[in-house]
Parts: sequence; structure tokens; C-alpha cells
Amino acid sequence: MSTSPDIAVVIGGASGIGWATAQLMAARGDTVAIADLDGDAATARAAELGGRTSGHRVQVTDEHSMRTVFDTITERHGAIGAVVDCAGISRPGTIADLSLADWKATIDVCLTGAFLSVKEATRTVRDGGSVVLVASLNGRQPGVAMSAYCSAKAGVLMLTEVAAMELAPRRIRVNAVNPGFVHTPLTSGAGLVPGLVEEYVENTPLGRAGTPEDVAQTIGFLTSDAASWMTGSAIDLNGGAHTMRYPNIIERIADMSAANGATDA
Ligand code: NAI
Repeated sequence: MSTSPDIAVVIGGASGIGWATAQLMAARGDTVAIADLDGDAATARAAELGGRTSGHRVQVTDEHSMRTVFDTITERHGAIGAVVDCAGISRPGTIADLSLADWKATIDVCLTGAFLSVKEATRTVRDGGSVVLVASLNGRQPGVAMSAYCSAKAGVLMLTEVAAMELAPRRIRVNAVNPGFVHTPLTSGAGLVPGLVEEYVENTPLGRAGTPEDVAQTIGFLTSDAASWMTGSAIDLNGGAHTMRYPNIIERIADMSAANGATDA
């Protein structure tokens, strides 16, 4: 069973949800390894947390890079108890307009990165440990102009279930969280489109967007003994937004362009 204090790897841990998760895990006594594409930020975050926290550069889409970083972390800290994959990108665009390169980049980081995270976990997580994959509300609720992201996150949900089956004999639990809109650097662009965040909030029964800490709390639960009977599950975490509908990004951008055109005229 996963016990705290433990050795935890937070991929994508230098920013947003990953950083909040790293802080929460360190605060409860875990030794945290922060791995991120932005290696300097990962190192700076580790220094901020102090103690035995370490920072590493990793490219989640690259098997060699993932293997090397997990080996380094194991050598430095010992057997890993929990892996949390928070790395993600979003490249919006309608299917007609989305480039194949943007489709592939999104699938690569969001889905292949999750696959390699689980794959490395099979090698380096001790029996009884756990894995948490950050999927999304968009893994189950479609959004116009979000085909790549929605498809990747839906894939993460099925990956979670398959991984849970395969790792259960070693009592390694694999779960996912499905956050709705959370204010982080990833979503800062949405704030520039008038009405977009407001439309999300209007379609959220609890009437607010999320914070990175909202998500970190649930990841903390899933990696703790309190969740010892949970595997292959996904927790919706979105103020109830899954009961309603996702904002139409393209309509909002069109409204913004029309408004700008009217101002320019
Ligand atoms: P963020 O942009 O603040 O943090 C993502 C981190 O992942 C960054 O530190 C970035 O450097 C790292 N990263 C990106 N590509 C990488 C790669 N190829 N290899 C290694 N690291 C990489 O974003 P945020 O919002 O904290 O997102 C975390 C996760 O939560 C992502 O999987 C995202 O899709 C998911 N999510 C976010 C939501 C939101 O509203 N912010 C909603 C639902 C899911």
C-alpha cells in the first residue's frame, strides 16, 4: 500500500496543477522529484521546496528521456511510490483548420506522454504504489475546436482503465482526474477571449473555475491510503460542468473579431 511519506514523481511539475501537486505532496512529507520539459523551472521549483526535492528536465514524448529521468530519480531517492503525470498542451482549431503537426503534437504530449509515464511506472514504482494521470473534462465532454485535446484526453481515460487491470496484480493503482477549467498558464490564452471563461462559469453549477489546489487535493487523495480501494477510476472535478455544455471557442473568437472589426471601422 502507498504510504506517506513516500517518493513521488510529478511530471509537468514546474507549473500549474503539477506545481500545486508537488507542493502538496512535499508538505505532507513526501520526497518529490519534479520533472518538466522546462528543466530550469523544475530545478528552481525544487530549490523553492528545499529538503530532498529534486528537479529534472524531461521530454514526455521521448522514451529515452523518460527512461533516463526515471532511472536518475530511482538512483537518487530509491523506489518510487507515486507517479503523477501533469504534462499537457492544448492546440485549438477546428478539424478543417487544425494542422496535422498540431494534432500530432497534442496527441504526443497528452496521450503518448501518459503512456510512457505508465510504462516507466511499471519499471520503477514499487508494488503497492500508485499512478495518477491528469485527463480532463474534455475527455468526456466535447468542445468545438478541441478535437486533438478531447481525443487525447479520452484516450487517457481508457489508458487508465487498461493500466489499472495490468498493474493490479502488483497492487499498483492507476487513476485519473478530470479537471474542468482551471486558471493556469495553459489556459491564460482563454482569458484573452472575451466571454469565454464567463461562458464556462455560466455552465458550471458551482459557478466558478477551478484552482490548481482544487486538483492537487484530489491527486493527493488518490495517491494516499484513503484511496486504497480505488483503481481504474476517473474523478470529475469541475464544479459540476460535466452536467452542462462546454463553451464554443470558435463562436467566442468570431464575436471578438467582429467586435474588433467594428472598433477598427
Ligand atoms: P501548465 O501549462 O501550467 O503546466 C503544464 C506543465 O507541463 C508545464 O510545466 C510544461 O512545461 C509541462 N510540459 C508541457 N509539455 C511537456 C513535455 N513535452 N514534456 C514534459 N513536460 C511538459 O498546465 P496545467 O493547466 O497545469 O495542466 C496540467 C495538466 O492538466 C495537463 O495535462 C492539462 O491538459 C490538464 N488539464 C488542465 C486544465 C486546465 O484548465 N488548466 C483542465 C483539464 C486538464
